Amino acid sequence: MRHGVVVAALAACSTLAGSFAAFAQTLPNGCTSIADVPAQFSGIQYGAAIQGLFDNFLTNGGTAGCVDCHTNPASTASGHLDLTDGVSWAHLFGVKSYENPNVKYVVPNHPEQSLLFQKVNCDNPQVGVRMPDGFPPGTLSPEQQATIYDWIAEGAPAGTTDGIFRNGFDIRGFAQ
Ligand code: HEC
Repeated sequence: MRHGVVVAALAACSTLAGSFAAFAQTLPNGCTSIADVPAQFSGIQYGAAIQGLFDNFLTNGGTAGCVDCHTNPASTASGHLDLTDGVSWAHLFGVKSYENPNVKYVVPNHPEQSLLFQKVNCDNPQVGVRMPDGFPPGTLSPEQQATIYDWIAEGAPAGTTDGIFRNGFDIRGFAQ
């Protein structure tokens, strides 16, 4: 009943209905729950934890990195996103997606709005496919996905997170 009222109201205003539909389509889905991963409230070092993951995300002793595809220069990198050491942070922090400028790679303090997190957490992110492209879902462990989440939640610094503004009751991820 309530749903019917909402639909009728939206139909009465085609502009609003159009924007509502566009919004609904852009929500990510097929996301991995990271709720059980203990939160890291401080001490995430960008270089070691985040760039380290970009350089090699395998935890089985092998080597495969986001940088294999997201290499320099940005103009030839996959998705025009260069994640190589030394330049990756500046390409992510507050930067609009090349593929969809309506979303940003990293919105400081808001992992749920950040395309970088969606791309590793969800089978159907707002833009393109799940990363790392060409690898099965689950290639990035929930712990690795949570590290990206927590780093962004702490403000996504180029150095080390201090976490002073986090509380211990945050519910994390999309799939709760
Ligand atoms: C085998 C190649 C490959 C690997 C490995 C890879 N990517 Fe990608 N990535 C792509 C391609 C191709 C695209 C563009 C299509 C898309 O968005 O799905 C892309 C797009 C992206 C985008 C969106 C770019 C934009 O313009 O909006 C992000 C963010 C991203 N990748 C992050 C990562 C991260 C983080 C990793 C490592 C965990 C990774 N990728 C590993 C190929 C790869």
